[in-house]
Amino acid sequence: MANVHPSQHPLVAHKVTLLRDQNTEPKKFRELVREIAALLTYEATADLSTTTSQVQTPLEIAEGAQLKEKIGLVPILRAGLGMVEGVWGLMPSAEVWHIGLYRDERTLKPVEYYNKLPIEPTVSVCLILDPMLATGGSAVATVDVLKRWGVRKIKFVGIIAAPEGIHLMQEHHPEVPIHLAVIDERLNDSGYILPGLGDAGDRQFGTG
Ligand code: PRP
Ligand code: URA
Repeated sequence: MANVHPSQHPLVAHKVTLLRDQNTEPKKFRELVREIAALLTYEATADLSTTTSQVQTPLEIAEGAQLKEKIGLVPILRAGLGMVEGVWGLMPSAEVWHIGLYRDERTLKPVEYYNKLPIEPTVSVCLILDPMLATGGSAVATVDVLKRWGVRKIKFVGIIAAPEGIHLMQEHHPEVPIHLAVIDERLNDSGYILPGLGDAGDRQFGTG
């Protein structure tokens, strides 16, 4: 699938297996979400632009590089929150802009409840963070919001996706790269990913 990047990394595969395990407690679950998010972001940011710069080492001047673009991390509440720390550790000067969406249990459509983006965009690249891409409704709605805000470069970083969610994203936003740990089989009638990991928000926050 064009523009879809499931990780091939053994560390990611190992950690996702632990994440799926129903016996994994919230503390361990949060640690794994953080670690997987960092590993996936390392892969997702391989094409970020840099400018050359010089740095004085204790011995002499070395040629170096600096990230050129202003990066925004956009976790989708709630479950995307758990990915922030892992990614922020890699790029501490990134801005974090939260988007609050929940899925209506009956229609499975996203309902927006939090968005404090200022009028003008303050970043040039956004990484949307959400562990689950199920029907794709939440991801599509978030890209809509960021495009309206004026951001041109957007990437989606998720952990598990269903084919249905990938198709919806590709239908609406084909230019947005989708970085994932794994693509699962399908959705069940309640919109949960199979085999999946259950409810990512509940498992992180102990609310299930
Ligand atoms: C989950 C998940 C995604 C969304 C994915 O959030 O974190 O945001 O569902 O589903 P979709 O692709 O069908 O839109 P949920 O609505 O359960 O809210 P929560 O994170 O607050 O638990
Ligand atoms: N949201 C989740 O947390 N899990 C799913 O399987 C689907 C949506």
